[in-house]
Amino acid sequence: MLRFLTAVLLLLSMRPAQAEDGYDLWLRYRPMEAAAQAQVRPLATAIVAQGASATLDAAKAELNQGLSGLLNQPVGSGAVRDGAVVIGTPSSSPLIAGLKLPLTGLGKEGYLLRSTSLNGHAVTIIAANSDIGVLYGSFAFLRLIQTRRPIARLDLASAPRLKFRLLNHWDNLDGTIERGYAGHSIFDWQKLPDYVDPRFRVMARANASVGINGISVNNVSADVWMLSSLYLDKLAALADALRPYGIRVYIAAKFSAPVELGKLKTADPADAQVQAWWKKEADSIYRRIPDFGGFVVKANSEGQPGPRDYDRSQADGANVIADALAPHGGTVFWRAFVYSEKDPTDRAKQAYNEFKPLDGKFRDNVFVQTKNGAIDFQPREPAHPMFGAMPKTNLALEVQITKEYLGQTTHLVYLPVLFKEVLDWDTMAKGKGSTVAKVVDGSLEGHDTSAMVGVSNIGDDRNWTGAQFSQADWYGFGRLAWNPDLSAEQIAREWLGMSFTNDPAFVSALAPMMIKSREAVVDYMTPLGLHHQFATGHHYGPGPWVSDLARPEWNPVYYNRADAKGVGFDRTPTGSDATSQYAPPLAKLFSGPDIPERDLLWFQHVAWDHKMKSGRTLWDELALHYQSGVDWVRATRSTWAALAGQIDPERHAAISKKLAIQERDAVWWRDACLLYFQTFAKRPLPSGVESPAKTLAVYKERALEW
Ligand code: GCU
Repeated sequence: MLRFLTAVLLLLSMRPAQAEDGYDLWLRYRPMEAAAQAQVRPLATAIVAQGASATLDAAKAELNQGLSGLLNQPVGSGAVRDGAVVIGTPSSSPLIAGLKLPLTGLGKEGYLLRSTSLNGHAVTIIAANSDIGVLYGSFAFLRLIQTRRPIARLDLASAPRLKFRLLNHWDNLDGTIERGYAGHSIFDWQKLPDYVDPRFRVMARANASVGINGISVNNVSADVWMLSSLYLDKLAALADALRPYGIRVYIAAKFSAPVELGKLKTADPADAQVQAWWKKEADSIYRRIPDFGGFVVKANSEGQPGPRDYDRSQADGANVIADALAPHGGTVFWRAFVYSEKDPTDRAKQAYNEFKPLDGKFRDNVFVQTKNGAIDFQPREPAHPMFGAMPKTNLALEVQITKEYLGQTTHLVYLPVLFKEVLDWDTMAKGKGSTVAKVVDGSLEGHDTSAMVGVSNIGDDRNWTGAQFSQADWYGFGRLAWNPDLSAEQIAREWLGMSFTNDPAFVSALAPMMIKSREAVVDYMTPLGLHHQFATGHHYGPGPWVSDLARPEWNPVYYNRADAKGVGFDRTPTGSDATSQYAPPLAKLFSGPDIPERDLLWFQHVAWDHKMKSGRTLWDELALHYQSGVDWVRATRSTWAALAGQIDPERHAAISKKLAIQERDAVWWRDACLLYFQTFAKRPLPSGVESPAKTLAVYKERALEW
């Protein structure tokens, strides 16, 4: 019998390592190398928690799972002893209270990790003012171990810089996802509320691990049914599953709901019945979900109803809903992505024109949720001119984690670099150093609330985001919303270590590659300030020639303005004058000769022979940028190929295949755009730029196939 059991055990220990399909995200907790285990084991001998709550249970469970996995031995609850990890808040844990820790500056969500002595034992403390802080601290403690940082002498306090750190899911109730590339929606409304998918818990853990504290669950181009009692009951079950992880749920609300759902004759915000309807709706939601977050509203945008339908302002519209939520502590995220099919003004100017005069007119519980740039999540945009221009309004920064315009899930493009570029952008609104980060965290104008929102890239694909590397965008969004000062490089290193391996050779090869990936996609898609050159509908491949769509601003030619003289959109005072929406020093910079070349064609129409800083002509420079984007993909393919064997074969192979697609697409972008622009520039490609393999006609055909 004993021999039989030994044989079984032997067989079990020989089974192949757990398949790596990306499901565990950055919370893999695989056993560390022996030396690291030996270092951490004496510092994680037991988990000591006093007090009870669903959130504390989640913290205990995470530490248990994480430490047991990383140390390859069970680490359970226990009493205070050397190496114990003692977690809790002063109000629920006498042990923590007795230590009189400096927690006052940490707010509700911050945490303190400290190595100290307790009852004569050397222990590690994870303390906070509330249970959610303890959970965040537990994830932070695990992250230190996962990334092989020393934990023997900890004294680390951290609190989020932004109050609302939210994901917007653009999921439709039928399971499809607007601009979603990772399968179907994970919200299976048909089975809720009776069946609560265990994946919600995994998603909640991942969100909490990076500090995300709210999600809106449906597409901003909203289905009014999300507000019906049928769906509210479903949402309540989801909210129950997420609550222990500090995640509040939000709904994207349709402005016409009082008519469509309430059967009123109007949705006019000045109408008393409409006001009463929103109040009744809010009451009914909060009865089911006492900590409901609030509403996201896309109004008068791309065909959505809104207050303008009744000659009311965006502020009138936002405030009627805000007033209904206010007694319950809810918030309205009112989107600034507004442009009109009837307004011939440069699309880049329209949101500012509409919102700037309303500064100071929004209720305190309203955020004007503003995309990072004035057009639409392009590979690169100058920051939206509303940042810094609305001092009396709470502005939330909206970025897109799903890569609608950056190669979706086939191109390896690491977005935290883009997010950082926006956060670090200096609006100059109150002199040098008036960064978007300071506008958004409220510090520039002394607001006591703040928000950052990311359009989610999550779907029901086994790996959550449709591509291994896209997980880094979700991870990085959360990390930056917690602390906008983190560097994109640090985030990349953390994520690589947690998701793959901490082997310095691997991390040092890949972190710089991730950092450069964003500039590469700009190079092969839209260099030097070009934007919106995408073929119709799918927003994946190139279509710089497209000029036949109903609305002028839907056509790439509207943005590139290529002609015999040159290329680029004149937004200087001689053109659309969008430059004047920026603070005076920027307005001057963008209209003049010293404009940073990366934004050149966004703001200026430039002659093909214009001399660039390099001494080359614009045409040559443009062509070389396209080529360098392609070159980056090729170099990355070899870097990646050389890493075979250093990580699991499943993920290595999947990423290799995607990089091959990315090379094909980068070449496609380069050739299609250069051939099209060449019809105006009438100049040869400079040396160093490969000749296109196909004709422009073939590329135009191919765009139609997509
Ligand atoms: C983009 C995107 C749309 C989306 C819109 C929005 O235009 O293509 O699908 O609805 O942004 O942000 O509302």
